[in-house]
Amino acid sequence: MNLAINQTEFQKFKNWFSGYAFSFKGYDSALTENTNLKEKHTYKVCEAILDIGKSIFLNEEELILAETVALFHDVGRFEQYKRFGTFMDSKSVNHSELGIEVLVREKVLDIIASETKDLIIKAIRYHNQARLPESENEECLLFSRLVRDADKLDIYRVVSEYYAEQKQGRKNKAIELDLPDTQSVSDEVVMAVINRKIVSFKDVKSLNDFKILQLAWIYDINFSFTSRRIKNEKYLDKIWDSMKEASIDPYIFLLVSEHINKNIS
Ligand SMILES: [Fe+2]
Repeated sequence: MNLAINQTEFQKFKNWFSGYAFSFKGYDSALTENTNLKEKHTYKVCEAILDIGKSIFLNEEELILAETVALFHDVGRFEQYKRFGTFMDSKSVNHSELGIEVLVREKVLDIIASETKDLIIKAIRYHNQARLPESENEECLLFSRLVRDADKLDIYRVVSEYYAEQKQGRKNKAIELDLPDTQSVSDEVVMAVINRKIVSFKDVKSLNDFKILQLAWIYDINFSFTSRRIKNEKYLDKIWDSMKEASIDPYIFLLVSEHINKNIS
């Protein structure tokens, strides 16, 4: 199957994306701030997916395809925030499906082969699902795994920077998904980590639950490059440190730390 996207097509995608993101800026300060946040996130996910892709020796064509998936994976976030004022899918819409709707409506992917277009759409659809469908072909699973890892890597950057700034007084309810910043932690969330399972969003009731969900992402990392970077950047430590006052069982941190070391070795 020839999935190639040439440089001209890729440049058109980048131009469309920056113009589209720009169209959400300047109306109100919260929309502009959160548009900037997701635009920067997108470019960082593009960088991360290239780093991960190179670590597994993808060729030039595969790297462009991976970067295209990264460029469009969160394109639904802008309209989601504009319409609903939140990034919480359960309180608004599934942002992956909204992103796919935007790409189809704007005919963005119509300049490339339909097989390539289908693969990109599936990888976007799967980037935020709890699990990847086992029935998919290896090629689709590869690009889905790549964007899932790259996305998590950059969300780790965003939240660990934010939790540090939060101590200095910065507040962005959208990053906190409007969750209450209480000391409470849900039993279901703790039990998932102890059973070495990813945390389900439906069990997340507080900001601490969300932080533990982020720690448990380590159970859902696909490439050793990603684990190494998470460890080098001390993302888990930074998230854990931000929960100091909640006196959560340190066994949770021990488990995720052990898991990351196992992924690397
Ligand atoms: Fe996303």
